[in-house]
Amino acid sequence: MNRIVYLDGTWLEEADAKVSVFDRGFLFADAVYEVTAVIGGKLIDYAGHAARLQRSLRELALSCPLGPDALLSLHHDIVARNALDEGLIYLQISRGAADRDFIFSETAKPTLVLFTQAKAVLDNPYNVTGIKVVTLPDQRWARRDIKTVQLLYPSMAKMEALRQGAQDAWLVEDGFVTEATSANAHIVTAEGTLVTRPLSHAILPGITRATIVELARAAGMPVEERAFTPDEARQASEAFITSATNFALPVTMIDGVPVGNGKPGPITERMRALYIAERLSHAEPVT
Ligand code: PDD
Repeated sequence: MNRIVYLDGTWLEEADAKVSVFDRGFLFADAVYEVTAVIGGKLIDYAGHAARLQRSLRELALSCPLGPDALLSLHHDIVARNALDEGLIYLQISRGAADRDFIFSETAKPTLVLFTQAKAVLDNPYNVTGIKVVTLPDQRWARRDIKTVQLLYPSMAKMEALRQGAQDAWLVEDGFVTEATSANAHIVTAEGTLVTRPLSHAILPGITRATIVELARAAGMPVEERAFTPDEARQASEAFITSATNFALPVTMIDGVPVGNGKPGPITERMRALYIAERLSHAEPVT
């Protein structure tokens, strides 16, 4: 791997891109991020990711080092410089380097990093088999609506899921599913209603989730935005997760119980196909 990454105004070979040990992203997880999928060199759902980035920054009083046009250009440039056909762009903004102190300066100079990861996002073998999930307590902080790099608990939970023979965990708080470790969680009832947890501080406002809800409604599918329990999920006719690089991915087993007939369901497959068709047609072309 020999990527060209972006760091604070400079394009560098990945081995030469170095961030200070005093960076608050490193010392305090004082940073926010976005992940945008790339298909055929095009950015998927970029406008949503750009808008959520601004919201995350605002919530933490972090400043954005570049304006919206420059950020979009960087996304196009990094695709071109790395000849990225399919995969993702990771963007992170931290509060920058300062002597270690819980009090931060309002005028700190942020650190901006972008890098790419090549990955077959369309041809994911789990589309065919579905993934298994286990439920685990949600022990993350209470502002999960902000996309911060505090990802230790989601990482530990995913490792625990792997240890239990599953691919991911659905996190549970006060008896209800919040979301997956790095994706939103959804179910489909026997009546064909798509059920997804409403937005609040408890979950990340997924960009893919928003598009899926919009597409489901436009297709005349009933959608209920309400919390659901692990029991209801285990008895649902379908379950799936959504995220930038998974689109809609079927969940075929929850805590060892097959969901529906234990195979990816038709509504999940339809939502995935609709999402890809719709978002590819609106993708940001490389200029
Ligand atoms: N994760 N919920 C959580 C906790 C997430 O980390 C993510 C995304 C989502 C889905 O959001 P979106 O549809 O906007 O990607 C929901 C990213 C992809 C990651 O951390 O790699």
